[in-house]
Amino acid sequence: MQNGKEELEQLLEIIGNISMGNYSNDIMPLTTDRTPEPIKTVAEAMGMMMVKVEAREYQLELLIDELRQLNEQIRSNAIQTIQAMAQALEARDTYTRGHAERVGSIAAEIAAEMGFEEERIELVRTAGILHDIGKIGCSDRIFQDHGAKNPPDVVKEILSHPVVGAEILKPLDFLDEVSSIILCHHERADGKGYPNGLPLDRIPLESRIIAVADAYDAMTTDRPYQKAKTTELAMEILGKLSGVQWDPDCVAAFQRLNSKKSEQA
Ligand SMILES: [Fe+2]
Repeated sequence: MQNGKEELEQLLEIIGNISMGNYSNDIMPLTTDRTPEPIKTVAEAMGMMMVKVEAREYQLELLIDELRQLNEQIRSNAIQTIQAMAQALEARDTYTRGHAERVGSIAAEIAAEMGFEEERIELVRTAGILHDIGKIGCSDRIFQDHGAKNPPDVVKEILSHPVVGAEILKPLDFLDEVSSIILCHHERADGKGYPNGLPLDRIPLESRIIAVADAYDAMTTDRPYQKAKTTELAMEILGKLSGVQWDPDCVAAFQRLNSKKSEQA
C-alpha cells in the first residue's frame, strides 16, 4: 500500500502487543525498505528497544534465579547450623542422645496419621528435632542428676527452655512458625503447662503433637531418674492422661499408629 496506512495499523497493533509484554518478530517486516518512512524508522527503533528490553528481562530472570538459589542455600545452611546446635545439645546429655531426632520422627508420623499435608508434616518434624534447643542456653546443672527433686534454680532454668528456644529461632524468618510451636511444647491440655498455662484450644496443634512424641520417647528411654518403660506401659500412661496432660486427638492418633504397627509386626 502506497500511503502506508496498512503498515501504520500493523505498527500500532504490534506496539499494543509489546505494551502487553508480548514480544514477537512481527516488527521485522516493517523494517525493510519496502515500508514507507517514517513508519520504518519507528519500527526500527521499536525493534531495537525490544531487543534491549528482552536482554534486560533475561538478565533479571538470571538474577532472580541466582537470588532464589542463594536464599535456598542460606536456608539450608541455617538449618544445618541449628541441627549442629541440636547435636551439640545432645552431646551435653548422654541420656537424651537421639531424642531430638526420634521426637521429630514420631511427631511427623502422628501428623501424617492426623492427615496433615506434606509441608506441614515437615514443619512438625523440624520443630520436633529442635523442640529442646532452648536448653543450649541452660547451665550443665540441668543435665545432672539431682535425685527425686530438682533444686529451685534448676527448675527455673528448665522452665525457661521453651522461651529461650523460641527466642533463638525467632530471628530466622523461615523458622518463625517453628519458633511458635517450640514455645508451646510444654503446654498441657488442662491449662497447667508452661510457660503460659494456655488452654488446649490456644496451643498450636503442632505443639500438642510434639508433646505426645516427647513424652513417649522420654518414657521409653533410660533416664537418670527412671528405667525405660515398655511401649505398652507408656501407651497406657498416655491414654490415662489423655485430655489432662495431652490433647486427646493427638493421643488417639498415636494409639492408632501403634495399633497399626503392632498389627504389622
Ligand atoms: Fe522440652
